[in-house]
Amino acid sequence: MAKGKPILVTGDRPTGRLHLGHLVGSLNNRIKFQDDYDCYFLVADLHMLTTHYDKVGEVEQNTLEMVMDWLSVGMDPEKSTFYVQSQIPYITELYAVLAMFCGVPRAERIPTLKEKIQDMGVGDNYSVGLLGYPVLMAADILMFKAEKVPVGDDQLSHVELTRELARRFNHLYGEFFTEPDPVISETSRLVGTDGNRKMSKSLENCIYLSDSVKDVEGRVRSMYTDPKRIRADIPGTVEGNPVFIYHDAFNTDIEEVDDLKERYSTGNVGDVEVKKKLARAINELLEPIRERRSFYEERLDDVRDILREGTKRAKETAAENMDAIITKMGLYKP
Ligand code: TRP
Repeated sequence: MAKGKPILVTGDRPTGRLHLGHLVGSLNNRIKFQDDYDCYFLVADLHMLTTHYDKVGEVEQNTLEMVMDWLSVGMDPEKSTFYVQSQIPYITELYAVLAMFCGVPRAERIPTLKEKIQDMGVGDNYSVGLLGYPVLMAADILMFKAEKVPVGDDQLSHVELTRELARRFNHLYGEFFTEPDPVISETSRLVGTDGNRKMSKSLENCIYLSDSVKDVEGRVRSMYTDPKRIRADIPGTVEGNPVFIYHDAFNTDIEEVDDLKERYSTGNVGDVEVKKKLARAINELLEPIRERRSFYEERLDDVRDILREGTKRAKETAAENMDAIITKMGLYKP
């Protein structure tokens, strides 16, 4: 707040290591935003609990892995605030306030709820916490009076609800919140190595930022590609082919990519060459990330300090904001 830049809030649930899909879908954008916005990056551990309330044993390790990924791609705790959501009680308090005027049918209509219920296989028996997922996200965003909220396209309906709740608050208690704008990254989804629409941990079709050179080579070698192309002299399809989608996304040698596309579509190159060059390009991209990651792996206490410091700072701001919210509402403070 002191810096006077517009505020941005975004974050991830701590479910483990991040992959190339995260890099193109959100991390690259965050790095760019850091200079122009006062960025709050949250470890959304309460959101993780909405579906994995029984997996608390993994949360510390998963948080540290994720934050090391953040650091190794260049998210910078000197510029931005990294914090653990559950350690800021004001967020939960604001969540309770917002829940009072969020209709149940409105929350039930959020499309991600149906998907989550299906994934969990719980039928109608889903929890109050899961229903409240987008309300909690609204609390994250409004807690810091964010103007910008970078999210994946699957999270857009949550930002829309946030805007509604901000308006509703203002209507009930007087002008206070600005309606935050969502920011969707240009490449918000990366196909999986198996050709599935989305790279996702649960589908086991990922290349992780922390994968070794050998891991990357192995994963690229077994990537899904044009299945009709059983021999190198059969013309292949470039369009929509995951191997070429990755070349476009990660290979900085444009001439090489154009040459490979040309030869692929005319049946003049083997899959082995195309994939070898892709693995090399991805490894070049990941090399500096791996280097920074191993730096932090040796200094886990620094990672913990970064989170502790950030959480402390975020908590101070949240305390001030919550006090102003309570005052605005006219609650009795004895
Ligand atoms: N729900 C988001 C996701 O899974 C993570 C998240 C939690 C978030 N709180 C947020 C994103 C606030 C943006 C703003 O991707």
